[in-house]
Amino acid sequence: MSEPLAEPFDAILELAGEPLREAMVSVEQRLHEIAGIELHALYTIEAGGKRLRPLLVFVAGLGSGAHTALCRAAAAVELIHSATLVHDDVLDDAPLRRGRVTIYAAAGRDAATSTGDLLFSSAFAELARNESIAQLASLSAASSALARGELMQRADAWRSDVTLERYLERCELKTARLFAAACELGALAGDGPPLAPFGRAVGLAFQILDDVLDITGPAERTGKRPGADLLDGTVTLPLILARKRSPELAALDLRDISGPDEAHRICKVIEATGAAEQARQHALELVASSKRSLPDGSPQQRRALELLADGLVERFA
Ligand code: IPE
Ligand code: IPE
Ligand code: MG
Ligand code: MG
Repeated sequence: MSEPLAEPFDAILELAGEPLREAMVSVEQRLHEIAGIELHALYTIEAGGKRLRPLLVFVAGLGSGAHTALCRAAAAVELIHSATLVHDDVLDDAPLRRGRVTIYAAAGRDAATSTGDLLFSSAFAELARNESIAQLASLSAASSALARGELMQRADAWRSDVTLERYLERCELKTARLFAAACELGALAGDGPPLAPFGRAVGLAFQILDDVLDITGPAERTGKRPGADLLDGTVTLPLILARKRSPELAALDLRDISGPDEAHRICKVIEATGAAEQARQHALELVASSKRSLPDGSPQQRRALELLADGLVERFA
């Protein structure tokens, strides 16, 4: 079984101690059980990933004794996330995911679509066991938002006129809402304080930083091919900002990018304008505002959430 958490988040496990560690192990076991009924689904779960969303669920419900309900909610959120990644790789024509060949690249569109569907439906079957309409409503709303965000991304693909506002709306839909739902589910299952605004802000920052990493990040760190967004026509914040600074980029038609080498060269041009750094600063401001949005709650939970927000940034430093 893969190691559930990346190193920047170890500090949270240190702080919250054995109960959180055990919760992360339980959710890992449960994910393997659920996905174990099908080869490709298991391949997705076995590839690991940071398990950030389950961590958010548990931290949002920190101190509660509702272990089983929190574990189901955490597994459900991660299953939705995994399902959307499998589908996202079809939409984005992606060769690599979590450092492995994508299901789409290895087994084709049909296998990837059906695997995503299986993971997606398993999420709701798992969450339904909590018998909470509020929890189901929260996850359903986030899942619809996510699908709308992905549709919006396809609708905006290759366009040179994607605005900052439209980009942020897409990130809100495809990423921030699921982070917010993770917080909401943790609060609902664990009777904790409302943390959806925190989840939304860190989720937005997370997507912006992911988009920066697509321009600046080496594949060894991301497990994904750099420049993948440019190659599939996805216009992200670094490019939106860089277009205002570079005539070459302002005139660029993404359809003319010949392949990975050319995409890599354009990544360097974007980085040289300082736009990737400017996008990163935007994300850092969101992280700072997420910390300001935290309710009083318990000091331990507050500290864990602050560490989580900082860990997101550290990962991309
Ligand atoms: C990737 O999410 C998709 C985005 C929202 C950017 P993660 O970076 O959390 O993916 P895993 O689960 O760790 O692979
Ligand atoms: C996030 O967008 C995907 C979902 C929220 C489903 P990306 O397309 O940027 O994610 P990666 O880079 O493929 O992980
Ligand atoms: Mg993608
Ligand atoms: Mg990306």
